[in-house]
Amino acid sequence: MCGIVGYVGDKPALDVVMAGLSRLEYRGYDSAGIAVRTAAGELTVVRRAGKLANLREALDGTPSETLDGTMGIGHTRWATHGAPTDRNAHPHVDCTGAIAVVHNGTLENFTELRDGLEHRGHALASETDTEAVAHLIEERYAGDLAAAVREVCGDLDGSFVLVVTHRDEPDVVVGARRNLPLVLGLGDGENFLASDVTAFIAHTRSARVVEQDQVVTLRRDGVTVTDLAGSPVDGATFYVDWDTAAAEKAGYEYFMLKEIDEQPAAVRETVGGRLGPDGRLTLDELAMSDEDIQGLTQVVVVGCGSTYHSGLVAKYAIERWARLPVQVEIASEFRYRDPVLDRHTLVVAISQSGETADTLEAVRHARRLRAWVLAVSNTVGSSIARESDAAFYTRGGPEVAVASTKAVMTQLAAVYLVGLHLAHVRGFRDDDEVRSHFGDLAATPAQIADVLGRMDPVRKLAREIASHERVMFLGRHVGYPMALEGALKLKELAYVSAEGLPAGEIKHGPIALIEKGTPVVVIAPRHALTAKIVTNVQEIRARGARTIVIATDGDDSLAPHADHLIRIPDIKSLLSPMLTLVPMQVLSAEFAMARGLDIDQPRNLAKSVTVE
Ligand code: F6R
Repeated sequence: MCGIVGYVGDKPALDVVMAGLSRLEYRGYDSAGIAVRTAAGELTVVRRAGKLANLREALDGTPSETLDGTMGIGHTRWATHGAPTDRNAHPHVDCTGAIAVVHNGTLENFTELRDGLEHRGHALASETDTEAVAHLIEERYAGDLAAAVREVCGDLDGSFVLVVTHRDEPDVVVGARRNLPLVLGLGDGENFLASDVTAFIAHTRSARVVEQDQVVTLRRDGVTVTDLAGSPVDGATFYVDWDTAAAEKAGYEYFMLKEIDEQPAAVRETVGGRLGPDGRLTLDELAMSDEDIQGLTQVVVVGCGSTYHSGLVAKYAIERWARLPVQVEIASEFRYRDPVLDRHTLVVAISQSGETADTLEAVRHARRLRAWVLAVSNTVGSSIARESDAAFYTRGGPEVAVASTKAVMTQLAAVYLVGLHLAHVRGFRDDDEVRSHFGDLAATPAQIADVLGRMDPVRKLAREIASHERVMFLGRHVGYPMALEGALKLKELAYVSAEGLPAGEIKHGPIALIEKGTPVVVIAPRHALTAKIVTNVQEIRARGARTIVIATDGDDSLAPHADHLIRIPDIKSLLSPMLTLVPMQVLSAEFAMARGLDIDQPRNLAKSVTVE
């Protein structure tokens, strides 16, 4: 949460920083601000509550000569300490106005720090924890900004990414990090710091991750990275192969709509090149020997939100194919339950961003208990990927819309691959079976594209039901996690009460919620349980529900009980989430748009949740 950009080079910093912030706005949009050191040696700070558009408007009204520098920092905020107001927007400055700081994270000892500063005569103008850092640097500054930042880092408890400038140090931006992401972009005559690579891939593809408790000095002609004691540290650069167009809207009204349409291509990337000619899946990323896989006694999957739902699907696949018991845990609950893990446990930590604090803490806990941790992530070099024993990258490309779509889809593909690999190595599926299941998985991109081509009636239906304040989603077996996902998408995008339930459970209480006309989405692809779902649908329809049924081509068992029928192509039931997911994404997006809502940036949310 919170997006940060720092730039030193020869281009107008205002343009580079604002373009970077627009890429990072998904990380928080409570306020935004920038600081630019002008050619005349002044530090100009402009900040506004609300979305980046408000800051742009304020900048339009700011004299251009006060913004004309080639060094700047910027921030887009997801509020923690202090309301989302102009006053609390970053950058924050010290008493002299010479130092500007942007911050991502939360400082646990901020009350103590603020009290101390006020006692020593500093006047703090905001309610934020961040402002304390600007004043602490002011106290420590003796002509070397990086040295002051290093010292101040030692005073801070909690998590932080800091990016700092000083009016008297032209062409220097200093960054520091603990627990949260900061990436260096290494250009030619220009360098960047950012919360993620999308902020600078239009300028450079060469990147380096800033590691825990490191401080970076960014200059036009190079970077220096040190530990907190000031000793230089080495680090590897990596190449970012995401294409810039993937981080643009490309003519779509919203990123979410584009990302929904990108799903066939994204799954192709996840699945591509995975099956060797010998019928073995190439899953070297798991980095486990066959012997270790054969010695596993359990799998534990952790994730949050939509990612947790992908984890629930993993349970069905791994238990069915690999005959291993699987527990799926919401990451924020996991370690407080005192889970029983050992070195025969595989923990699969799923996270699109790779930065979710709850999942990161679950990874750390699992590793302390000696489990083998596999990260399934979309973000190369993310904290969760780096702190796990092994990382499987989903290769879905940048996902900008806050509500996850293609990332969930690629996570599904990834967990099926993991399940098949475990099954093969453990001897529960032979070469032919693996080849056949892999073939089914490799066919899904075309099937997803087919479903996408059928969505016009779903959009029309979404507009028809958009005035309802309650929608229910029912499913059985792997349809159940998808019912949870459908409900979450609608909640977060349209702000309506949406519940996802196992269809068989509804008669035990939730059926009381059904009134005449309540829309109920029933996920019912062809499956051994379809006959039971037919009964469940009849039960709710008898109570007045408007039934919206997702069913397989050629299966007419539900047609008489459906007010609206959404068809998907025939697919093995275990893989059906990859198709049933699509109509629910489209339905929730269109439902929210019909209410006039911004589906890329739903209220109160941020894409990367880096607080516990
Ligand atoms: C919902 C959504 C969230 C994320 C969750 C985990 O659409 O996007 O529920 O799935 O915050 O995020 P990652 O996968 O980045 O750990």
